[in-house]
Amino acid sequence: IQAEKSGYKHFMLKEINEQPRAIRDTTLGRVSLDTGKVHLPEMQFSEADFRNASQITIAACGTSWHAGLAGKFMIERLARLPVEVDYASEYRYRDPIADPRAIGLLITQSGETADTLAAQAELAAKGSKTLAICNVVGAAITRKAQGTLTTNAGPEIGVASTKAFTAQLTALFVLALHLAQVRGTISDEESLHLVTELSKLPTKLASLLNINSPDAPGSSEGVAAPIRPSTPDRRSTTRQPLSVQCEELARLFHTADDFLFLGRGIHYPIALEGALKLKEISYIHAEGYPAGEMKHGPNALIDESLPVVCIATKDPNDPSSVLKYEKTLSNIQEVTARSGRVIAIAIEGDTEISQLVEQTIYIPQAPELLLPILEVVPLQLLAYHIAVRRGCDVDQPRNLAKSVTVE
Ligand code: G6P
Repeated sequence: IQAEKSGYKHFMLKEINEQPRAIRDTTLGRVSLDTGKVHLPEMQFSEADFRNASQITIAACGTSWHAGLAGKFMIERLARLPVEVDYASEYRYRDPIADPRAIGLLITQSGETADTLAAQAELAAKGSKTLAICNVVGAAITRKAQGTLTTNAGPEIGVASTKAFTAQLTALFVLALHLAQVRGTISDEESLHLVTELSKLPTKLASLLNINSPDAPGSSEGVAAPIRPSTPDRRSTTRQPLSVQCEELARLFHTADDFLFLGRGIHYPIALEGALKLKEISYIHAEGYPAGEMKHGPNALIDESLPVVCIATKDPNDPSSVLKYEKTLSNIQEVTARSGRVIAIAIEGDTEISQLVEQTIYIPQAPELLLPILEVVPLQLLAYHIAVRRGCDVDQPRNLAKSVTVE
């Protein structure tokens, strides 16, 4: 087992560090860096199916459901197609409205989750075609789907999902771009820009993690090849290595009884995912909340003992992202005014935020819809280091299973 961990202490840490490769391998062969076009040859959906679709219904569980929530922002924004997102365990209990022009999108790492399979059956019974985003080739969900987009993250052993999640976000982004191109809702120029930015993500993630980029010259190919921690990049004198920062945060906050995670727009699902990671492996109660909803209840919880993780990133080229960021800044001020202890996730170089809060973790710049893939990494590492400090079984948390095959 030690050999399988490739020198890492836990599978979860190994898998966090495999994310640059997982993202690259989920993109590779599907996008053209020359034209910006997306090709999904493995899909049995015709372009007409996508062009004429009335809506997309996403059903998933756990971390995969969070990917679905983020995917809604990607698909609606790029392809202008309405998306609804359901817990797979709830879908069939609400007499859902679906029709032959609606496409069911099931997101699942394992492809074996009983509730997700049941949602697929319900969608099929209503006449919808189903599409799966799945990490396991040949899994049950793929056998009944009309198309599968495989996330090439490689086997995920840690019960708490990490690399499968960022690979799902990548697959959803690629799918959203494809839908937008087929439906004519995106210009060639914008497509090329987004594909170019997508291709930069593995290197940005590797730099965030202080490891070698899978795209670096001489880096070994093969999906399963482990990525070894390298010495910190000496050019980045502006910040400590992320793992060192997260270990320090873990030292400061591992005795907290509760945590809040806040985000707005597409960053809200990442707040939910940060809270879930912490709950799963450290057994600390944590809640993810839309930043703007704080005043409708959770503000009452704030005191000097409550750590509040705020995702406060922005894409300066995107006016709606900047507006969201400014609103989030005022939410942060509301928390600090009540003595809450804010840990902000912000874009490198943002000094405005670091003056407002107690702790800032910086991530590289990217377009708004791609930021979640970077934002979640410090949240995974924060949960990891807190769990390690609390002596928890990181890879096999109590009462949880990697794949829930009973309803
Ligand atoms: C379990 C796992 C989670 C996972 C969820 C959905 O609860 O512990 O990590 O997100 O199932 O699994 P799936 O394989 O369908 O993505």
